[in-house]
Amino acid sequence: MKRIGILTSGGDAPGMNAAIRAVTRKAIHSGLEVYGINYGYAGLVAGDIFKMDESSVGDKIQRGGTFLYSARYPEFAKEEGQLKGIEQLNKFGIEALVVIGGDGSYHGALRLTEHGYNAVGLPGTIDNDIPYTDFTIGFDTSVNTVVEAADRIRDTAASHERTFIIEVMGREAGDIALWSGVAAGAEDVIVPEHDFDVKEIADRLRSSRQRGQKHAIIILAEGVMHADELAEQLSQYGDFYLRHTVLGHVVRGGSPTARDRVLASEMGAYAVDLLMQGKGGLAIGIENGKITSHDMLDLFDSKHHAQMSLYQLGQDLSF
Ligand code: F6P
Repeated sequence: MKRIGILTSGGDAPGMNAAIRAVTRKAIHSGLEVYGINYGYAGLVAGDIFKMDESSVGDKIQRGGTFLYSARYPEFAKEEGQLKGIEQLNKFGIEALVVIGGDGSYHGALRLTEHGYNAVGLPGTIDNDIPYTDFTIGFDTSVNTVVEAADRIRDTAASHERTFIIEVMGREAGDIALWSGVAAGAEDVIVPEHDFDVKEIADRLRSSRQRGQKHAIIILAEGVMHADELAEQLSQYGDFYLRHTVLGHVVRGGSPTARDRVLASEMGAYAVDLLMQGKGGLAIGIENGKITSHDMLDLFDSKHHAQMSLYQLGQDLSF
């Protein structure tokens, strides 16, 4: 194998650039040529492909987003799209690929591997919702962003004795809410993985107000409902001086934390090792501190499990 390609696909995540840098530098240092593919699978099909050298990835490790751009491209699920992509791979002489993205991006990678073009996946998403990895690239940064926002909101919540609902991204997963809830000392966290009762939350808010804590932060995962709906439901049970904030895409941007940069660098280098061993159809993860890889088919049959011990911990430690 002489030439590999790299693309980012799905929602961008902080640390993707660090991963592109790691793949590119490791591959070039190992004697390979590297081609960047813009706009994920859409760019692959369109032939938006360019040769990279070591300096293409200079001054990138600290930047959020992905300088290779990203796109959601459902057309690649169909064989017609895959064949068009393969045409471009042949045109540029690319024999193998690194794909950075969420599990939708892995389906495309597996299809390419089945067509004879080894592809290895790196978990790049803030949602942390990929099986067989404890952490995804971008998750740590997004949690830190939520915590910083929650700390700021607490200042104003305390000053006005208000209850704030903070809605955070995460798609169907509650990981961002669980981790940031513990780190920000949230009074309550509401996630898709755990039942909740609005009346019970209202009762808890009321009793903590009676005990003297007159402000509260509730972190709500977007997979449950929207912040305005929860505010509406809570207000049926009393006046908690509610305000709500939707952090939205703010949580997806920003310079990656050191932890995300290191994770991206380790995973990127390992992806090149696997391709050089002639392996494909594998998804890289980190489990118990070790970089690992699993067959993508195993991932599609499994479900990610959020660390639910954090839910109980948050409840135990709240006021
Ligand atoms: O998967 C990452 C993510 O940011 C989710 O947390 C969120 O639900 C979704 O993407 C938003 O997608 P878009 O940017 O396409 O609106």
